[in-house]
Amino acid sequence: MKNNRFHNLILMVFIISIISVTFGCKNSDKHKGEEAITNTDISKEESLYRPNFHFTPKANWMNDPNGMFYLNGAYHLYFQYYPDGNVWGPMHWGHAISKDMITWEEQPIALYPDELGMIFSGSAVVDKNNTTGFGKDGNVPIVAIYTYHNMQGEKDGKIDFQTQAIAYSLDEGMTWTKYEANPVISNPGIKDFRDPKVIWDDSSSKWIMSLAAGKKIMFYSSLNLIDWTFESEFGNGIGAQNGVWECPDLFPITIEGTEDTKWVLLVSINPDGPNGGSATQYFIGDFDGKTFVLDESFSKQLQQQKAVWIDYGRDNYAGVTWSNIPESDGRKLFIGWMSNWDYARDVPTYTWRSSMTVARELKLKKHFTNFCLQSLPVKELFDYADKSIVEDSLSINNFNELLNMSKINLANSNIQFELKNLKEEIYKFLFFNEVGDTLKLGLDNKTNEFFINRKKSGEVNFSEKFADTISIAKITNSLNELSVQILLDKTSVEVFYNEGEIVMTELFFPRAPLSMFTISSIDKTFKIENMNIQEFNFN
Ligand code: FRU
Repeated sequence: MKNNRFHNLILMVFIISIISVTFGCKNSDKHKGEEAITNTDISKEESLYRPNFHFTPKANWMNDPNGMFYLNGAYHLYFQYYPDGNVWGPMHWGHAISKDMITWEEQPIALYPDELGMIFSGSAVVDKNNTTGFGKDGNVPIVAIYTYHNMQGEKDGKIDFQTQAIAYSLDEGMTWTKYEANPVISNPGIKDFRDPKVIWDDSSSKWIMSLAAGKKIMFYSSLNLIDWTFESEFGNGIGAQNGVWECPDLFPITIEGTEDTKWVLLVSINPDGPNGGSATQYFIGDFDGKTFVLDESFSKQLQQQKAVWIDYGRDNYAGVTWSNIPESDGRKLFIGWMSNWDYARDVPTYTWRSSMTVARELKLKKHFTNFCLQSLPVKELFDYADKSIVEDSLSINNFNELLNMSKINLANSNIQFELKNLKEEIYKFLFFNEVGDTLKLGLDNKTNEFFINRKKSGEVNFSEKFADTISIAKITNSLNELSVQILLDKTSVEVFYNEGEIVMTELFFPRAPLSMFTISSIDKTFKIENMNIQEFNFN
């Protein structure tokens, strides 16, 4: 052991299950979607890559989550969908329903493109008071507010080819009727003018729409979801700016442990994410029904760093929150698209492309003067926890014995632990398989950075941008202790540090399941406590 540097570094080796089947490396071919997909390809990617607990469409292309609302025990998720191919194309709204935001049933397509354009991203609200007048025979209308993207207009070199429109459903989101006088907001001469997210604002008793417009957000208000008044705009020169702003979401949230309310504005940007390509930044402030004003403390935070991100990994984009969550629940529930425009079209799945992140609960914390929007997996996920390994405090010996007795499928698991007595060293959490693929993540407590390195995680050459760099989340100081929660699925890792204060979500495409896990460091005196590894069972 002494001569073997790798083993010398390993504090614990969790050989949880070794899967003997090896899979050959698939050629990366962008255009494979247009060719015939063989049965072997399909069964291989189903078993190796179809996620265990992240939503994917059965077939074809998906991007942003859209129109999420909750009603009568059902969480609805619509999504940007191209049903005729596995790369982006004329956008529809696909649809899926879940009782718990974890297991989803895909539904028939909800909205099809028409002569006004493709159906781009947007939101949906439950119009309980029938402000639209669309309700009939006591049926509550659900109203979808979305962007029309007119291809012809774009081809003709116009700039006003994106407009906002509405559609309504009188059967709880299953079938939709487009409003006959669409669009409800015409284009004021702004090329990127899209992704309306609407909320009901109690204090102004109005519907409020946030809309991405170039590198700004425009706010509109309405009493009936049909007639809209421009109120104000936010964002000139603020936050990350070297890309197009997309998919905003404005909502109030209580600061944890207080009765104070602040407003969160989520803004996705592409490119200019912290580690390249697309990512979602947020702003904390106040909103009076007309104007969003940055909180002073948050402005100071923005003086120290260019932008604050909901997730520092490369694969959480265009995420927004559910509407109509009952007050008795009160959570802010979020889901994002688990990909990045840098390479989304090239990832090596062919039957379907893209999945969503796990649904997450957002909380606003304030540490002294600093705000932090935390995210953690929704508690419903843990209803599926089945087999588990629990250890209060670990030594190498007892842990190895424990592992010899247990078999956990890591690619379907939640792994939690706390690290104590940390030094200014590097702490690595490694997932690997028997064909040499390794996903490395952890904390560099010398440089004060969390990192994910997927350079050797399997198939990476399908896009130059996929594994060109190591993703990093910078923190202000070194840590004495750290709590870690990792959700591992077949092709994704979502890591939540210190109760979701720093989150990193990334994809990887191993040639065989990542079935082994180690924690390693040169430091030999740190402690691992409260280890809990749970395998999910969705059957
Ligand atoms: C974000 C986005 C949106 C747009 C949609 C088109 O990923 O570019 O701005 O509405 O995708 O599919």
